[in-house]
Amino acid sequence: MGSEIPDILSAEFAADPYPAYRVLRDEAPLYHHEAMQSYVVSRYEDVERVFKDQVFTTANYNWQLEPVHGKTILQLSGREHSVRRALVAPAFRGSELEQKFLPVIEKNASELIDGFRTAGTVDLVAQFATRFPIGVIVDMLGLDKADHDRFQKWYTSIIAFLGNLTQDPDVTEAGLRTKEEFADYMIPIIRDRRSHLGDDLLSTLVTAEIDGEVMSDEDVKSFCSLLLAAGGETTDKALASMFALLLQHPDQLQAVREDRSLIDRAFAEALRFHPPVHMIMREPSADVEIAGGVIPAGSTVTALIGAANRDERRYKDPDSFDIFREDLNVTSAFSAAANHLAFALGRHFCVGALLAKSEVEVATNMLLDAMPHMELEEGFEPGEKGVFTRGPAELRVKFTPA
Ligand code: HEM
Repeated sequence: MGSEIPDILSAEFAADPYPAYRVLRDEAPLYHHEAMQSYVVSRYEDVERVFKDQVFTTANYNWQLEPVHGKTILQLSGREHSVRRALVAPAFRGSELEQKFLPVIEKNASELIDGFRTAGTVDLVAQFATRFPIGVIVDMLGLDKADHDRFQKWYTSIIAFLGNLTQDPDVTEAGLRTKEEFADYMIPIIRDRRSHLGDDLLSTLVTAEIDGEVMSDEDVKSFCSLLLAAGGETTDKALASMFALLLQHPDQLQAVREDRSLIDRAFAEALRFHPPVHMIMREPSADVEIAGGVIPAGSTVTALIGAANRDERRYKDPDSFDIFREDLNVTSAFSAAANHLAFALGRHFCVGALLAKSEVEVATNMLLDAMPHMELEEGFEPGEKGVFTRGPAELRVKFTPA
């Protein structure tokens, strides 16, 4: 045994979790974190198993998310889960995505770029990444984009509630308030949409039948709340992280600029290297042997995606960002056959992965076209913020307008 076991709740960890992840993988691949009241796993093979083996249930979301969203598909299992998931899945893949929603993605990206097209400088986080994915999902649902600031405040407080590892009472209270505010906002819109159907995702949800019954207003509201939170903050951080990494590796940025088919590679490698979601929890329904120990039934397990994605047992030279690496499968990177863990795996594998991929492809192409030369502003060092979800807080870029 070498160094002490690092504390996930420490300031050092928040500043840079990656060295701590290595110590955990090597010296404490299973340990119990007292303050978090959770067992923690960090090696790729263990995190993968936690996502795939159904003994690890998602009952943890009963306390981790239900108080802010209401009940959502994340908590469900078996047929109930697959039937509800199937309601939204078509909108996020294949022809429905391409024909109906690709134009929405393009419009949102180009409107935002118009806001700084000639400026020569931009903060890609504040002026693009935090606005783009939420704009897309709001348009997909057929809601009012003028309410953007409210949506953003709501999803930020929901994600903060989810990642409230220290149980900060202010964070809890803001999350609970969001549930009320979101319901007050959404329920009248849902009722109205039932009698004014359109071509949007909300109309699909209000008319969908499950076992002969339509979803209640409350059910639809919870689903929308999940879509805003799951599709907003994650894609925002993913896009900003990818640009930060490319700007720090100008040769790789140049390669992507010259061959746009490399955008998927860059996105997949950024998801491995700096995943937006660093940890996901589960609750085993029986005692489970894993990583050399036993996790008792009913306890909470924290699966460290951020650590697993840097496991040297899985990737060569895991701490270097290399879009050309051969041990990351790009073809399957946005499906449940992925060999990185940023979207989890198994039954709850991110239903929005292909939407996120389309968003990043469109946005990256448009941003590179609008900025024939781009570099980090002088003296600006990109950093990452967050422990549960993590990404750049700002990304100041200098560019030559097209
Ligand atoms: C790069 C962007 C994204 C990342 C990193 C990400 C990450 C994740 C992860 C880790 C999960 C699994 C949670 C668990 O197993 O407990 C998940 C599930 C989910 N994601 Fe994403 N997500 C992204 C984009 C999106 C988008 C754009 C949407 C849709 C608007 C979306 C909607 C969902 C939903 C509804 C689930 C729950 C699926 C289920 O329970 O079956 N996500 N996502």
